[in-house]
Parts: sequence; C-alpha cells; structure tokens
Amino acid sequence: MKKVGILAGRERTFPAALIERVAARDAGVEAEWVKLGGTAVESHTPYALIVDRISHEVPYYQIFLKHAHLQGAVIINNPFARIVEDKFTANFLAQQAGVAVPKTVILPNKAYIPDITGESLTNLIHPVDWEMLGRYIGWPAVMKPAVGGGWKSVSIVHSIDEMLVAYDASDQLSMLLQEFIHWDRYVRCLCIGREKVLPIAWDPTKPHNERYLQQPDYLSPAETERVVSDALKLCRALGHDMNTVEFAFHKGVPYAIDFTNSAPDLDIASLGEWHFNWAVDAMTDLVIERALAVPEQRAARESYAAAF
Ligand SMILES: Nc1ncnc2c1ncn2[C@@H]1O[C@H](COP(=O)(O)OP(=O)(O)O)[C@@H](O)[C@H]1O
Ligand SMILES: [Mg+2]
Repeated sequence: MKKVGILAGRERTFPAALIERVAARDAGVEAEWVKLGGTAVESHTPYALIVDRISHEVPYYQIFLKHAHLQGAVIINNPFARIVEDKFTANFLAQQAGVAVPKTVILPNKAYIPDITGESLTNLIHPVDWEMLGRYIGWPAVMKPAVGGGWKSVSIVHSIDEMLVAYDASDQLSMLLQEFIHWDRYVRCLCIGREKVLPIAWDPTKPHNERYLQQPDYLSPAETERVVSDALKLCRALGHDMNTVEFAFHKGVPYAIDFTNSAPDLDIASLGEWHFNWAVDAMTDLVIERALAVPEQRAARESYAAAF
C-alpha cells in the first residue's frame, strides 16, 4: 500500500474529501494526515507523496518537506520551487512563456533589520526616482508584496503621494509596483497536475464566499482555450501541481494577475460544491497516479541540485 500524507492548516473539507476519495478508489494507495513531532536526519519518510497545504505558514514543515523530497517522495507542490518563488520573478517567467502580465517593478525595501544602516546600502541609488517609476507604470497602480497572499498589504494607489503612503507602511516587505488592469471580466482557474485547468468566472468585488460564479458562457470557446493554455504555461514554468491562476480581461487580452498560489483556497464554502468536487477528483487522480509511480525502494538524492 502506497501512502499519501496531507499537511494542512485549519481547513477540513478538502483534506477529508481527499482522504475519503482516495480510499474509495481502492487503487493500492491510502491517504492520511501527516503527524510530526521532530524529525531526525536519519529518519525515512513513509510517504510516497505529500500534499502540502500549509508549509508556507509553518516553517518546520518546509524543512520536513525538503527532507522528504530529497528521499524521493513526491511533494505537491515541490518545496524547492515553491520556497524561492516571488511574484516579480514569476512575472518574468510568465513573459518568457508568452503570457500577458501587467508592467511590474520591484522596489527597494522601505525598512530593514536593525543591523542594516545607511552605510550597509552602498548599492542603492538614493533617493528613488519615484516620478520615473510612476510614469513607467501609470496611474492607478497596484502596490503589493512580492511574496504574499490573502490580499494582505495590497493597495490601489492613484498618485505618488498615495503610493508613498502604501510604501511607508510596507516596513520590511519587498513590494511591487504594478500596472492596474482595467478589467471587464475576471477569471480564476483551478489548476491540478500541470494538466487539468478549470476556468471559473470570479468576481473579486464580492464577499469572499460569493466570488466563484456559475456562468458557463462567461468566456467564449477561444477565450477559454487561451486561458487554459496560458494557465498551463504558468504552472509548468513555475513547477506547480496545485495552483490557482487569475486572469483579468482587458480589451480581450487575459492578463495574468495572481498565479503563485501554491496552497490555493479549496474550501467547499468558497468554491461551491461543483467546483470543489472537480478539484477533489482531479487531485485524487493525480496523487494516485504519482504515488503509484514512486518506486518502493527509493534512492535518496545526493544534492540539492538534483532535487529540482
Ligand atoms: N495589476 C492588477 N490589476 C487589477 N487588479 C489587481 C491587480 N493586482 C491585484 N489586483 C486585485 O487585487 C486582488 C489581490 O491581489 P493579488 O495579486 O491576487 O494578491 P494576493 O496574492 O494577496 O491574493 C486581486 O484578486 C485583484 O482583484
Ligand atoms: Mg490573489
């Protein structure tokens, strides 16, 4: 019997449904919650595959997952790709893959740990030429963290003064200044296994649990094909087997807005039952296929480089 482990936070509906559906398939794979209480370097992971829904918020889990990955377990998502990720670099990868993205600048940090003084920052041009950056991006603009989620510290700014208020509040975060896309339609794609994509009309102006809309004709067939193809390019470039990818449509072009969601919200309350079942089924297919492909006798990888 191959073992699939699940690491999750407060969420309950997705892990429970995944465990149940994997068991129901009776395919020689069983899924369970991972239990941890300190990990020895010599220990061997019993898992062929681990679905990681929370290590971005529990640092011990990140280190445990790298260890499991180096022992040949499949981790969804690959911690070696996920941990280094940021939205600026992801935008570059998107551009290289031919996906439309808003113009984006990564800014120097506002604040530092106490040991960093003016003398430590010889490499930085001071003051920053805000006028020039504002002209390049245009107004309104979006100020958001390069690594973040849950709409934390995301603001829309209409002038240099407003931008500086948001910047001054950013403290030690690394912030992006980004072109605001004036969208007429917005979609969020559930992406599983770098193969399956479900684009769903999504209204960010609505309360959290009402954003996913049931509107099958929201996009034309050609637009659907384009966002599916772009979402796959993004997930493949980033190495994500579990992701949500958001597109804002402007003049018929889908701009990728937020596509580094390695532990996307998959709760039944926000997705609705139909989309939730799609996600659980797609993930069940994926974990069974991947877990069965992991050899019983795994060879440990000998270097970090081999882990990518
Ligand atoms: N460049 C942009 N143009 C238009 N709207 C944006 C842009 N960036 C972010 N938004 C809006 O702000 C929301 C939160 O930003 P996002 O990048 O998704 O941050 P998070 O990772 O915290 O969810 C998005 O869902 C979208 O509605
Ligand atoms: Mg988002």
